[in-house]
Amino acid sequence: MSGNLKLALQKKGRLTEKSLELLSLCGLDIENYSERLVVSVRNFPMDILFLRDDDIPEYVQDGVADIGIVGENVVSEKQTQSLILEKLGFGRCSLLFAYPEGKEIKKIEDINEKTIATTYPRILKEYLRTNNLNAKVIELRGSVEIAPSLGVADLICDIVSTGNTLMMNKLKKSFKVFDSQAVLISAAGELKDERKNDVLRDLLRRIRSVKTAHSSKYLMMNIPKESLDKIIGIIPSLKSPTVLHLADENMLAVHAVIPSDKFWEIIEDLKSAGASGVLLLPIENLIQ
Ligand code: PRP
Ligand code: ZN
Repeated sequence: MSGNLKLALQKKGRLTEKSLELLSLCGLDIENYSERLVVSVRNFPMDILFLRDDDIPEYVQDGVADIGIVGENVVSEKQTQSLILEKLGFGRCSLLFAYPEGKEIKKIEDINEKTIATTYPRILKEYLRTNNLNAKVIELRGSVEIAPSLGVADLICDIVSTGNTLMMNKLKKSFKVFDSQAVLISAAGELKDERKNDVLRDLLRRIRSVKTAHSSKYLMMNIPKESLDKIIGIIPSLKSPTVLHLADENMLAVHAVIPSDKFWEIIEDLKSAGASGVLLLPIENLIQ
């Protein structure tokens, strides 16, 4: 194989599309990947390996891949020597208990003496230990959600994202064990190849820029000159806002980068301070 940096991605699943979308926002032009195990990136010295997500931490630890994108849940379950380089902010899900009708758990102690099916035995057993609970853990490789209806387990401990899988299997959410999102991992310690290290640093820089850009928006508005101080006091700007003169000398234009989620909190205050023509634009990249 080439001396390119090797990135492992989930072959088919919740994280695949979002991971590819992130890479494409990083400016990477990825070959059509349908059904292939390895694809290259046209404009970046990196190859992408498509693997089963559960295998990714081990492959990264063993150097089959240099880095990987995988759920924190899998990283934590596998307990390999891999290192989380960056949390990626997508693929959010929780590992939680779910029960079928008639087996309700009102308080966590209700799981004592119960049988729990899971694909996350390590995390679950650790949780039981730290909470002084005593339940039987049944380890399954998949399709955990059908275990209660098959009579194999009283309840399950599984990953829930949208909740559709639980709903389809008539299971109800209960206590949460672990919150997870997609992360970028590498083997512990620096990569041995200096060139690959440079490529990894470049990739991380791009990923961070995309992440900040996505959590920020570009706010533009016109304001009456006399409201400037008031408006500046309202804007939760990352840097000092830009103030521009307009042809109408009683008016100013104010531009600022703000955290996306703050917009709806401040819009009414801006309007009552006299702001008009308010525009909120997406930002593609933001280098800080
Ligand atoms: C989990 C879990 C469910 C599904 C739940 O699998 O086992 O099958 O996600 O998602 P939902 O709440 O949106 O319906 P995961 O994607 O972790 O992958 P897996 O195939 O490796 O188990
Ligand atoms: Zn998996």
